[in-house]
Amino acid sequence: MIEDQASSLRRMNQSRLVKVIAVTGGKGGVGKTNITLNTAISMAKQGKRVMVLDADLGLANVDVLLGLRVEKNLSHVLSGEATLDEVLVHGPHGILIAPASSGTQSMTELSPTEHAGLIRAFSELQTPIDVLIVDTAAGISDMVLSFSRASQDIMVVVCDEPTSLTDAYALIKILNREYGVFRFKIVANMVRNVREGQELFNKLSKVTGRFLDVALELVATVPYDENIRKAVRKQKAIVDAFPASPAAMAIKGLAKEAMHWPVPTQPGGHLEFFLEQLVTKKAAGGNG
Ligand SMILES: Nc1ncnc2c1ncn2[C@@H]1O[C@H](COP(=O)(O)OP(=O)(O)OP(=O)(O)O)[C@@H](O)[C@H]1O
Ligand SMILES: [Mg+2]
Repeated sequence: MIEDQASSLRRMNQSRLVKVIAVTGGKGGVGKTNITLNTAISMAKQGKRVMVLDADLGLANVDVLLGLRVEKNLSHVLSGEATLDEVLVHGPHGILIAPASSGTQSMTELSPTEHAGLIRAFSELQTPIDVLIVDTAAGISDMVLSFSRASQDIMVVVCDEPTSLTDAYALIKILNREYGVFRFKIVANMVRNVREGQELFNKLSKVTGRFLDVALELVATVPYDENIRKAVRKQKAIVDAFPASPAAMAIKGLAKEAMHWPVPTQPGGHLEFFLEQLVTKKAAGGNG
């Protein structure tokens, strides 16, 4: 089995540079899923092959937002009942959605068979992808931490509420102290204007600056926009339903920028590195 894993990893290593971005935030309801989905669709419209890994089992799942039917999920892949290609759901503009399995299980607590299954599943993936965006659940569970620290870039979504800031801080602190993650990309969501987004970012970086050794970057300011809710009701992404609306414009800008974030060529840029990190108990370096 170890042999199997090693050769699967070697095979992947040969060709697949994939940008892996985790979307997280600590607090529930800050807009992670909407930002994930709209970023993914915007990138797909720009010609990227995008997969969304739905690691959130909350009510407003990626598939629910888009009105898609999900029959199988990653647990079927882990147990060998299905291939990854079989569980992928096709979304708008060709984005692929991989529905997660049970949210209670930590990815670091998979059995050796499940490890092998996961790695094999990705190595056998027939559909080539350029970008993998991971939508994480609310909270700071092991699952959220393992997906975040395994990704090359971590987008932390915050909104102007004290609990959002404290939860984001707590998440950043754990990822930094326990996993050595150093860089965080901040998305200020549901703000009134760019200035308010900047102020929110300043508040967060003030506390992290005082207590932690991390680098935060404000990568997007997404305004509060009723069109997001309207789009959700239509089971569409705002970038499709209301492409000229303020929130859609902001997320399109974010997607455009994110496509230019560098993919490390060695070793963190490969899909197998993400998987290795995902299933390893402790990472020394994280994305730092
Ligand atoms: N910029 C925005 N303007 C207005 N409403 C927004 C905006 N962003 C998100 N929302 C709304 O906030 C709610 C939560 O959004 P979403 O489901 O994306 O958050 P989440 O962080 O994924 O939540 P959870 O933690 O439950 O997974 C939804 O009703 C969504 O329509
Ligand atoms: Mg969500």
